[in-house]
Amino acid sequence: MAELVVLADADELARVAAHRMGECIASVLGERRKASVALSGGSTPGPSYRRLATTFGSSPAESALDVARIRWFFVDERAVGPEHERSNYRALERDLFEPGRIPREHVFRMQGELSPEAAAEAYSAVLARELGEPPVLDLVIAGLGSDGHTASLFPKTRAVSASGSVVAVFPADLEPRISLGRSTLLRAREVFVLVCGADKRAALSRALEHGDEDEVPGRVYLAAAGRVTFLVDRAANPG
Ligand code: 6PG
Repeated sequence: MAELVVLADADELARVAAHRMGECIASVLGERRKASVALSGGSTPGPSYRRLATTFGSSPAESALDVARIRWFFVDERAVGPEHERSNYRALERDLFEPGRIPREHVFRMQGELSPEAAAEAYSAVLARELGEPPVLDLVIAGLGSDGHTASLFPKTRAVSASGSVVAVFPADLEPRISLGRSTLLRAREVFVLVCGADKRAALSRALEHGDEDEVPGRVYLAAAGRVTFLVDRAANPG
């Protein structure tokens, strides 16, 4: 059952999302040796990542979160190299890894510079090696596009029915993508879906209703095994 939490605006959403991410990671680390977190790109989560970075403190030793025990993965990547301005990895470097002083050997990026098929296969192997098979992530930070896509599972591409823990996706009007597959998203122990802005209201309303997932891939979370929370601002709230 997905929960909807409505926050006043983008600032409050960033504050609450960063707080919940920290809480979730701390709780996983209280139970297990390592925590695994998969991060989306796009514009919405940037402010939350920047806030989360500050909770790691100026020195890793000062932080309540033991950064050495956190493994960072990607929800999706665009088919561009890591230096490209559209690279999700590049955005995460700027917003979280660099300011949070994250050990880069614990960051597992998708290789957007390879062919999407080769990058998806390589990343499936990374997930299997780091998390076992099938891979279970502790926390997924997802988003929702105004067209209803989530991760890089785009509408009308059949990406939601592609097999594999990581899939190559070819949206009509954008560069190809590499994305966690539906099954990997659904297996996560906890998912936060961050949604901001009036242009997302219709997509959010559709994502919260059962129906054709190929039409609205954001609906996949309605079938999740773990806990799913949509953190949305008032402008995006369809209610
Ligand atoms: C990406 C993202 C993508 C994102 C949605 C929402 O690479 O674009 O990972 O899935 O979450 O497109 O994007 P915005 O936050 O920019 O609206």
